[in-house]
Amino acid sequence: MLDIIDIKILDFRDLIESNSNTNLDANFSLHLAYSMKKILVTGGSGYIGSHTVVELLDAGHDVVILDNLSNSGVGVVQRIETISERSVKFIQGDIQDEALLDELFKEHSFDSVIHFAGLKSVAESVAEPERYYQNNVVGSETLFNCMQQNSCNELVFSSSATVYGEPESVPISEGAKLSATNPYGDSKLAVENVLKELNSSNPEWKISILRYFNPVAAHASGMIGEDPNGIPNNLLPYIAQVAVGKLDRLAVFGDDYPTPDGTGIRDYVHVVDLARAHIAALSCIEEGQSPKVYNIGTGQGYSVLEVVQAFEKAAQCKIPYVLEPRRPGDIASCYADASLAMKELGWSAAYGLAQMMEDHWRWQQLNPNGYQ
Ligand code: NAD
Ligand code: WQD
Repeated sequence: MLDIIDIKILDFRDLIESNSNTNLDANFSLHLAYSMKKILVTGGSGYIGSHTVVELLDAGHDVVILDNLSNSGVGVVQRIETISERSVKFIQGDIQDEALLDELFKEHSFDSVIHFAGLKSVAESVAEPERYYQNNVVGSETLFNCMQQNSCNELVFSSSATVYGEPESVPISEGAKLSATNPYGDSKLAVENVLKELNSSNPEWKISILRYFNPVAAHASGMIGEDPNGIPNNLLPYIAQVAVGKLDRLAVFGDDYPTPDGTGIRDYVHVVDLARAHIAALSCIEEGQSPKVYNIGTGQGYSVLEVVQAFEKAAQCKIPYVLEPRRPGDIASCYADASLAMKELGWSAAYGLAQMMEDHWRWQQLNPNGYQ
């Protein structure tokens, strides 16, 4: 870090001496040099993490990935490097391993941490609540303690729209009532609360909590994307596997919701847009007495049947489906008021539903069996 800043300060002085008209460029490189960060990305070989690492590398940051590979493969790292034409250090390890974390912080003097590592299946969390608490909550606390001990106090945390439970109204703004309806949601709320306490006890922390709505799609190269284990739970991976012939038909869970076509409405957001929200959050991050919380969605909701139609258009095929009863725990409608992210981070989603479907389909076609 210091090396880069020193070099750029020299450039800056040279430029001023040689030509006063170049002040703007020089200021820009000085700004860039100050903006470059050394970042620990936990869960960086996972779906959202891998896309964010690509964006971080593109923005010039240095990245170390820490991932225990419980839900990803090491092969993704090579693909990240191919896309970004930069190298990235990968460490296989667990956020619950205090000694490993301490060693990493001492070796790398990280400026910031982006914390994706976590288990994310709602159904699995109902079956194994203790495992979810241990991994997601205790693991996060171990990470935050280690950050504190090593004077790294800049953090972006992956939260979820699941913390809104059954929303009283839509669009949902950050101030809406919070409630968890399953152990996965409990774990996200618990970590948000830990972060609030941490920040109020030490306002030097700079914390941004991003509440993602429904991440979908893949990098435009088709080289990285979502690779769920077994039969997908989520809508988009399921549709894509029907399209590629791995699954017979989609089950549409419920057509009797109080929505225009009776099927559930969600706010699908392109994973590259989502990744870029982390870059925006990092560049705007500041000290304060409480973490900054942002909804990351498009602000536009689509029904299950609208998504099916959009995918059919992108993939030029029919997606056979059957109507089934509602899935327990599902809600009718969930979409973001994403205006705060626009106002304070200058972030808004660039990609619409058609692009999301095209990119998701490209990834699925090029990688019918995921990373295998
Ligand atoms: P993912 O499973 O693809 O990525 C998570 C990564 O974390 C995986 O590579 C996994 O191996 C790793 N990991 C899990 N526990 C770990 C541990 N203890 N130590 C080290 N590594 C560990 O999931 P994703 O979709 O990329 O989600 C990333 C984050 O965003 C998660 O925290 C998730 O809860 C949150 N989130 C995801 C969604 C979604 O729908 N995908 C929505 C909202 C929030
Ligand atoms: C979307 C819509 C389903 C599958 C989940 C988690 C949430 C967050 C994102 C992490 C709903 C319908 C789905 C299928 C269907 N993850 N559907 N047939 O439930 O909004 O959110 O992922 O934080 O916490 O709960 O996403 O993609 O599963 O469902 O009809 O086979 O598609 O009923 O209306 P969901 P999803």
